[in-house]
Amino acid sequence: MFDLLVTNATLPDGRTGIDIGVSGGRIAACGAGIAAQAAASAEVIDAAGQLVTPPFVDAHFHMDAVLSYGLPRINESGTLLEGIALWGELKPTLVQDAIISRAMTYCDWAVANGLLAIRTHVDTCDPRLLAVEALLEVKRKVAPYLDLQLVAFPQDGILRYDPRADDPACTDTAFDLLKKALDLGVDVVGGIPHFEQTMQSGTESVRLLCEEAARRSLRVDMHCDETDDPMSRHIETLAFETRRLGLQGRVNGSHLTSMHSMDNYYVSKLIPLIAQAGVSAVANPLINITIQGRHDTYPKRRGMTRVPELLAAGITVAFGHDCVMDPWYGLGSGDMLEVAHMGLHVAQMTSRVAMKQCFDAVTAAPAAIMGLDGYGLEPGCRADFVLLQAAEPVEAIRLRAARLAVVRRGRVVATSEPRVSRLRLAGRPDAVRLTRQ
Ligand code: FE2
Repeated sequence: MFDLLVTNATLPDGRTGIDIGVSGGRIAACGAGIAAQAAASAEVIDAAGQLVTPPFVDAHFHMDAVLSYGLPRINESGTLLEGIALWGELKPTLVQDAIISRAMTYCDWAVANGLLAIRTHVDTCDPRLLAVEALLEVKRKVAPYLDLQLVAFPQDGILRYDPRADDPACTDTAFDLLKKALDLGVDVVGGIPHFEQTMQSGTESVRLLCEEAARRSLRVDMHCDETDDPMSRHIETLAFETRRLGLQGRVNGSHLTSMHSMDNYYVSKLIPLIAQAGVSAVANPLINITIQGRHDTYPKRRGMTRVPELLAAGITVAFGHDCVMDPWYGLGSGDMLEVAHMGLHVAQMTSRVAMKQCFDAVTAAPAAIMGLDGYGLEPGCRADFVLLQAAEPVEAIRLRAARLAVVRRGRVVATSEPRVSRLRLAGRPDAVRLTRQ
């Protein structure tokens, strides 16, 4: 007797005709023929041969800024730097309730999209730590249905930002504020070395932040080299500090866009260093393709990091959403299949194997980067999964497939109707689903 039984599912690894039995919020059985042997289950979902996947995971997001598009104005140049300046204008006007309300709305969108785990950066360059307290509250509120992991992110640089600019009475340094955020319960140490004033201070910031993470036994996730400047090489320092401090497997480099513009010879040295250090990478295709290359005329660089080459070296690579309707990006809806779709195009990952890797980049890879416990469809894993209106992962990306059912800890938390259009054409079928079958 299962609490929930899913029948006739196709799994992301290609297995078909699979039944999934759920008991006590965990997967109790997963394989062929389980339904035939099972006694009556409390709830049954017939997958009808469609894809059941572990939930989507976003390993790079900014939930303190989400849905603030247009406040107080729109980013006209579209550059990273105008986005940072705009966020700086918005920050003093923020109130906690509004941050919480916008974040809660986005979490609703996420659940509707089968996105059940998000690592969000939260800006610590604020003497009030307003966004930190707001997102800690959101994390508590959504915990029953969404795993939220917070990164202490010094948006204006731990060495560059002087809190007295915002509050003359403040006696904390930017680094102190980041440590206070960690004391309050923020999970991961962030950074932004390419935004510090000099290459040297960027290097220094990586060292200080990695040492802080080692002292606290925390993970690290830095915005690293989010620039078209090929000389921005802080990822090299991040890999070095990871090995020096024994942080292998716990450090992630986000964006790494300068790698797009680096000299090939240097990259041939750099990628093995990243692999040896066990540092993972998150590219953010929607944002990288719109923000990078803004100083170019033609040809315009794509500005996304070298995803196929990193994967070929055995490095874990995820695709993140990064922004939804905020000072940096005016679009987005929390749909990780849209993120995978863009990543596939920008990285030209068009082989069958590479397209499947793009699906993994919004599911298993970010789950590994976040260190999610019990992620997957094997017996014993948490009963979190999504039924898609697609036959397999590549079709799911192609169609940004409808999420027919989203299950969290064995309970259906969201449903969508199948996408069907009705034709009124003589001699042609009356229903079109855009699927191959
Ligand atoms: Fe970011």
